[in-house]
Amino acid sequence: MTDNTTASLNGKVALVTGGARGLGLEIASQLAARGAYVVIGAREKAKAEAVVSNLHALGLEASAIKLDVTSDEDRQQAYAAIDKAHGKLDILINNAAVLLDSPNGGTPAPRQPSRALPSVLRETFEANFFAPIFLTQLLLPLIERAEAGRIVNVSSIRGSLTHLSDPTSPVYPIRALAYDTSKAALNAFTILIAEELRSTPIKINAIHPGWLRTDMGGAEANMGVEEGARATINYATLDETGPTGGFFFLDERLPW
Ligand SMILES: NC(=O)c1ccc[n+]([C@@H]2O[C@H](COP(=O)([O-])OP(=O)(O)OC[C@H]3O[C@@H](n4cnc5c(N)ncnc54)[C@H](OP(=O)(O)O)[C@@H]3O)[C@@H](O)[C@H]2O)c1
Repeated sequence: MTDNTTASLNGKVALVTGGARGLGLEIASQLAARGAYVVIGAREKAKAEAVVSNLHALGLEASAIKLDVTSDEDRQQAYAAIDKAHGKLDILINNAAVLLDSPNGGTPAPRQPSRALPSVLRETFEANFFAPIFLTQLLLPLIERAEAGRIVNVSSIRGSLTHLSDPTSPVYPIRALAYDTSKAALNAFTILIAEELRSTPIKINAIHPGWLRTDMGGAEANMGVEEGARATINYATLDETGPTGGFFFLDERLPW
């Protein structure tokens, strides 16, 4: 992987959705430790404020916003708050997501695709697909005002149609219709918007962070959030030679 992990992020403003726990918390902490001003978005503002207090205690720069990514009102308020305080956004991490087919990390999903619940499909697509699109669309003017905007869509290898359809893939047995298709759709959004923005300095990539020990990934996972976040941050801090419109796990390009 190209090593962008040491350059200072002083002067950069980053928004991390779902930034108060799990992978999002670690991404936010590492960005702040590198010198970025990090806006922590969380459904419950108090949770984001607690993270901000901890970062301030370390002498790092951060602020909290209430951001349920599925709420149009919250998204508008996030735009207004970042515009007022900073006038630009250098880094957007679309991290927030739900896994409702198989809560508590239990996989495969208990219901087969033929019996998947409409509510699970709709709620999953609201959070994992529509929300990152609408948030990206809304914040794009602020990202265009940054010198070299970077957007990372935190996806999953389970959104790879190649892996989903390959019985030899290690993720083949882990099947959940709503989650897997929401990440496949997010990947398609990544391809299409990256193409639209190709002539601009903005880069947008989808990443699989790894199987992580979080509430979603469960205790059996083989990677910690520290490693998962480092990979994400690398794609959030690509220099101008870095890729756009790709799907990656660490240094590896994943098949769609
Ligand atoms: N863990 C893994 O093994 C793994 C593997 C591949 C990809 N991923 C991806 O990595 C990302 C982070 O996952 P994680 O493991 O950290 O999951 P997690 O522990 O379940 O945390 C999910 C985060 O998303 C937030 N969230 C959910 N719905 C939201 C909404 N409507 N508005 C705002 N925030 C919302 C949660 O906030 P609350 O505190 O408000 O609930 C929480 O911060 C996700 O995109 C996930 O799909 C994870």
